[in-house]
Amino acid sequence: MAPQITAKPLKTARLQGISANQIQQHYELYKRYVDTTNRIRTALNDADRENANPNYSPYRALKVEESYSWDAVKLHELYFWNLGGNGGAATGRIRNLINRDFGSFNDWKTDFTAAGKSARGWVVLAYDCDDKTLHNYLQDAHNLGVIWRAIPLLVLDVYEHAYFIDFGIDRAKYLDAFFANIDWEEINRRLGATPACPPPTTPLDEPPRPAVPASPSVTIYNKK
Ligand SMILES: [Fe+2]
Repeated sequence: MAPQITAKPLKTARLQGISANQIQQHYELYKRYVDTTNRIRTALNDADRENANPNYSPYRALKVEESYSWDAVKLHELYFWNLGGNGGAATGRIRNLINRDFGSFNDWKTDFTAAGKSARGWVVLAYDCDDKTLHNYLQDAHNLGVIWRAIPLLVLDVYEHAYFIDFGIDRAKYLDAFFANIDWEEINRRLGATPACPPPTTPLDEPPRPAVPASPSVTIYNKK
């Protein structure tokens, strides 16, 4: 039986260019996803498994919404907690990895911004454990576009509820505000707290790339 979860506290509502009201309303929405996840888990305990089917069954409906709500909780927690910094260019180990995999910080930002303009839900800078490379992944919903065995490092919410109070339909202004509030220390903390990726399930064909000229802790991502 899956455990009940509790909402994590908001890291801060004091951001640059994003109002406390905008963040607080968004946080209240996140808490609803926490409640919904718990209700789904409770309902799943007694769901009818005998009559489960792919057309319609209460079990199927619960399982679909489980992925929607639980992913929403995870993504929102990552989003709220990667804000609260001073933005600017990436620092530390994530800067080294961005330079290695995107060429430069500006090249990464250009691609992340394009994804932010294109997505209907989320953009996730993630380290993929299988090709051992950073990617800007795009999700059109909480549970649509998820890439398995990829570790989320920086998460951007582009649902309208994330910016409509402050910016109306001007998503570009919201993206500027998002970049101005990124907490790169938090991104590096996620990088450092991440255990070494498990070995890939299939052998990688490509030859290893040159080692990264970076601080020692980046060695968790050594190509092996
Ligand atoms: Fe959101």
